[in-house]
Amino acid sequence: MKTLNVELGERRYPIYIGENVLLQADLLTQHIKSKQVLIVTNETIAPLYLEKVSANLSAYHVENVILPDGEQFKTLDSLNLIFDKLLTCKFSRNATLIALGGGVIGDMGGFAAACYQRGITFIQIPTTLLAQVDSSVGGKTGVNHALGKNMIGAFYQPQAVIADVNVLDTLDDRQLAAGLAEIIKYGLIRNEAFFVWLEENINVLLARDKTALTYAIEQSCIMKAEVVAEDEHEGGVRATLNLGHTFGHAIETGMGYGSYLHGEAVAIGTCLAADLSQRKGFLTHNDVARIVNLFERSNLPVKSPTELNTERFVDLMAVDKKNVDGAIRVILLEAIGKATLPMSVDNLSLMQTLQCYGK
Ligand code: NAD
Ligand code: GLY
Repeated sequence: MKTLNVELGERRYPIYIGENVLLQADLLTQHIKSKQVLIVTNETIAPLYLEKVSANLSAYHVENVILPDGEQFKTLDSLNLIFDKLLTCKFSRNATLIALGGGVIGDMGGFAAACYQRGITFIQIPTTLLAQVDSSVGGKTGVNHALGKNMIGAFYQPQAVIADVNVLDTLDDRQLAAGLAEIIKYGLIRNEAFFVWLEENINVLLARDKTALTYAIEQSCIMKAEVVAEDEHEGGVRATLNLGHTFGHAIETGMGYGSYLHGEAVAIGTCLAADLSQRKGFLTHNDVARIVNLFERSNLPVKSPTELNTERFVDLMAVDKKNVDGAIRVILLEAIGKATLPMSVDNLSLMQTLQCYGK
């Protein structure tokens, strides 16, 4: 097992990564400070892992909330089901909420923990590759709004993240690929050598080699932890983690939540950002080809949906947390391994990318 730390002073917390860490009761219980524990999960994950986690908690009063599965349920209504349970069971302010699931459950569980009685103890047990490399670390929590992805939320850090590589065995190939999109992102924004390692090892990762997967998760979490420690509330460098996301969120909202997986939308968005970076004179044609090729080899989509016309796309991009005074700002790449901070882009280049890329 490897332990990394997110260095946030008094709110410093560990990320445990390894095979079977889910079965090590003490990793979990050392972070629980009272008898009352609520596990939030969904109907797909509950039959697979709820009993395993509960088995570590026989000394506690444990309640569960099993939510419907899907990005379309990342809503205030689902959040209310969590509050209903906490209140019905008379959970106190020293209670602990455990989010057992992918990014949807992690983001909602974290937001519920942030809001209930203005904040209760929160632990992340991420069960998708995407959640293990990205969403469980860093304290971004929230829900979607019909008009914009992740638009309602809060920063709220967990006490610990427990990432068991073995739970990825039950993840389907499409979800595994979606996680690879966020892993590729780290190479692109801050580590060219890692990008090259991914080019060389993508087939090994797709074949689910545990050593390679563990290495990719560790490297991703190291980078995420560095960025979050430097800029927890996204005043600067943390925005680089949103490479491709302004485009990606527009695709998710525009196509209907759940139609494209988050990682798939990010893959397309990153290709669009790469094309725009080339138009701005940052990336070479060869750089863009390498980026697109790595996403394609990861079985991820690289072309934006034809259903979204350019005007609608730009309209959707106008609802994004990086925008300032309503002006669209995106993260671009100066090179493979080096991202820009959020930049305003001229309308002509943006239109050219949206009209020309992948068509
Ligand atoms: P997800 O949570 O919807 O999980 C994907 C699917 O896999 C679901 O059907 C889920 O039930 C299933 N699943 C989960 N674990 C499984 C397992 N071990 N075996 C079998 N099936 C399993 O999707 P995701 O890709 O994990 O997360 C996407 C969400 O994360 C989006 O809402 C996105 O906005 C959010 N996100 C948040 C952050 C952040 O910093 N907070 C970062 C990136 C993404
Ligand atoms: N996934 C983007 C962030 O955590 O900032």
